[in-house]
Amino acid sequence: MPESKKSSLYREVAAEIAAVLDGESNLIARMATVSNILHHAFDHYYWTGFYLVDPERPRELVIGPYQGTLGCLRIPFDKGVCGACATRRESLVVKDVHEFPGHIACDSRSESEIVVPVIDRTGALIAVFDVDSDRTAQFDDDDRKGLEAILTETFSA
Ligand code: SME
Repeated sequence: MPESKKSSLYREVAAEIAAVLDGESNLIARMATVSNILHHAFDHYYWTGFYLVDPERPRELVIGPYQGTLGCLRIPFDKGVCGACATRRESLVVKDVHEFPGHIACDSRSESEIVVPVIDRTGALIAVFDVDSDRTAQFDDDDRKGLEAILTETFSA
């Protein structure tokens, strides 16, 4: 099966992120760069960013580097798509956020969403990466695979 246009763009973006971050170990610099490059590479991204596991409140996520409209500051592990991703440590693709029980609408224009866990090289969950679209059903398996590859390469390698 030929690679989709979207998958090939994810590979190009992955190479750009790796080149920009070469030699930079600071976690916030790495997260800010990932959210910036991805946000500007894809038309279907409306809100793009990280929610970090808060070491002082281990069952809660706190806002990290992001692009887009104002994000909620904190999300408990038992709330929202981000909380479900952090609890299950697996990627979630939500075609219609209004059908996801407990979805948190930081911005009422959000219609679909993908959230991917961010694991460090020790195997610890350090954050989740959340992308929202203002249109329904914008994310699929190509987004999931593309984002999982970038996040693994950037934070677990
Ligand atoms: N919709 C997310 C919350 C984060 S914002 O959309 C930026 C959720 O349900 O977890």
